[in-house]
Amino acid sequence: MRQLRRMRPASAYIDQSQFDREMAAHFLSGWVGVGRSEDLPETGSFVQRSIAGEKLLLVRGPDQIRAFHNVCRHRGTQLCSQGRGHFVGSIQCSYHAWTWGLDGRLRAAPHFSEDDGFRLEDFPLHSPECAQWGGHLFVNLSKNPAPLEDGLGSVMKKFAPWPMENLRIGHTICYDVAANWKLIIQNYSECLHCPTVHPALARLSHYMTGDNEPATQFYLGGTMKLNDGVKTMTMSGESNRAIFSSLGEYDRRHIYYYALIPNMLLSLHPDYVVSYTLWPKAPNRTEIVCDFQFDPVEMRCPGFSAMDAVEFWDLTNRQDWRVSELSQLGMNSLSYMPGPYSIREGLLAAFDEIMIKALDGV
Ligand code: FES
Ligand SMILES: [Fe+2]
Repeated sequence: MRQLRRMRPASAYIDQSQFDREMAAHFLSGWVGVGRSEDLPETGSFVQRSIAGEKLLLVRGPDQIRAFHNVCRHRGTQLCSQGRGHFVGSIQCSYHAWTWGLDGRLRAAPHFSEDDGFRLEDFPLHSPECAQWGGHLFVNLSKNPAPLEDGLGSVMKKFAPWPMENLRIGHTICYDVAANWKLIIQNYSECLHCPTVHPALARLSHYMTGDNEPATQFYLGGTMKLNDGVKTMTMSGESNRAIFSSLGEYDRRHIYYYALIPNMLLSLHPDYVVSYTLWPKAPNRTEIVCDFQFDPVEMRCPGFSAMDAVEFWDLTNRQDWRVSELSQLGMNSLSYMPGPYSIREGLLAAFDEIMIKALDGV
């Protein structure tokens, strides 16, 4: 007889101390999705990100994109308060004018000299590891992290047929969801709720076609089949966009839904890709940035519109955020007791185990 597995206690979703430990275990130690490389269109472009309270600047230099802690090496002043913008050739602290190149090397520090034993090369901006895959940017705040490929190598191989690196953002939506970040991932990782929560989705793809890959500590996910006659996930199931020519037969008929731990959701369609980055703000609050990406050749076609995909997923996502918020609310009740997982919620139980194990070390 199968042993029923159960949800975790409410503390996993409402306690500040648990939340802080998760931030240390996953967001300050793992590869965190921080957006698309096209967010930094030219040399000097920067965006600011906050990972578990750590302020970071992502900066495109002439050779590559780097991440820097937004902290002056002189007296710790925050270097930049803008969310995004453009550095003209250098990054300068507004306090005493220490100045770094776009590569993070210190170029000037007024009133310090080698005669005092001061060396510019001793004070580069602190620069955590930054990696790219398929145009997605990742940052890892731990010291000497294992390469991104070590955890995501098999996903990279599986998704190689999608020309992700060449895709461009056609639309972005930001959401502020009153739910724990893990509830968002858990909701994304089962389709048992589709018939009740998502009538529009249920017309395009049957929830019982969901087929999951065994979870790893780096990702979990699976596929759902498009119904006969449905081309892609839009309100009508139709699209005037071409299907990516590099896709094989299976990939043309299935949607891939993958959660990259800790904070990225990736939905691959035959003609577009949606990526989400989750930004936990509190045990009961998560900001979500949702980017819709398309083939730039299609985007240049007369009559191109992202909105058929956007309308469908905005509706569906809001339905998901709503039930996640309701789950969060229920967990505050004294009556809450962890309920059982069905056989079609196996990824959620696996995710729980990954989360519990990760907390062992913090
Ligand atoms: S604190 Fe930045 S230059 Fe002094
Ligand atoms: Fe859903």
